Amino acid sequence: MTDAILLIDEPAPYVRRLTLNRPEARNALSSPLLVALAEALEAAGDDANIRAVVLTGGAKVFAAGADIKELATRDTVTGLLDARTALWGRIRRFAKPMVAAIDGYALGGGLELAMHADIAVAGPTAQFGLPEINLGFIPGGGGTQRLARIAGQQLAMKLILTGEFADAKTAHAAGLVAEIAEDAQLRGVEIAAKIAQKAPLAARLAKELVLAARDTPLETGLAFERKAIAALWGTDDFKEGVGAFLEKRKATFAGK
Ligand code: CAA
Repeated sequence: MTDAILLIDEPAPYVRRLTLNRPEARNALSSPLLVALAEALEAAGDDANIRAVVLTGGAKVFAAGADIKELATRDTVTGLLDARTALWGRIRRFAKPMVAAIDGYALGGGLELAMHADIAVAGPTAQFGLPEINLGFIPGGGGTQRLARIAGQQLAMKLILTGEFADAKTAHAAGLVAEIAEDAQLRGVEIAAKIAQKAPLAARLAKELVLAARDTPLETGLAFERKAIAALWGTDDFKEGVGAFLEKRKATFAGK
């Protein structure tokens, strides 16, 4: 179904890939596309056979932001009542590991979406920006908050105030992506496939903990970590992981 705005496939065991597919609009995140994405992530979250998701726009462009044609009719009232806020919330609540494979532009809402991924891989030609200031407004999908937290104030201010783009090397140096890969599409799947071989409950709790580290006092985070590890020590996956190590064989995790 290549005419769908979101392509869904499974490129490796337990891995679901979601590919934004509006090439004619540089994968601009129209409301229908955000709805499709939220629904697809919820379906992946509910599916016991899915352990990791790869989010991509394909090899040419990740996403050029919100759909500016749709935004053109916005005013203060529609802004305050914007249904997209709830859609971003649904995307944010995806609890399994998510890897973004970023080639080409990740701009505005596209960069905001990329920052929802737990691990991002950039191709050498990737470009990152929050150019909303050129349109007379500011990022609205969490960009001012997430970019400052992830990449620091200097790069965040520069991109948000000037509308300039950062290249893959700058994004990598700032911690906006985990790595630059010659073939980011392949590498994104490779990373997700590797995660999918690990214990799913452990991966899920690890994601929750690392995300909590941004906003949680250290003592609270450490207490949360102790409780999480105690919970994991009661799982079959823990017995399998340690048993496999002691028996010198590869572990097979069931997510139980
Ligand atoms: N929304 C809607 N359509 C878009 C779009 C967007 N964000 N970005 C690109 N397009 C469309 C163009 O209108 C054009 O359509 P037509 O062929 O019908 O004219 C088509 O995609 C190709 O675009 P270009 O010819 O401009 O392609 P390019 O390769 O020369 O440039 C680009 C690519 C640098 C991404 C450029 O299109 C661009 O600057 N796009 C806008 C980026 C932007 O401002 N993003 C922020 C959006 S606002 C936002 O995201 C708000 C938020 O957080 C709430």
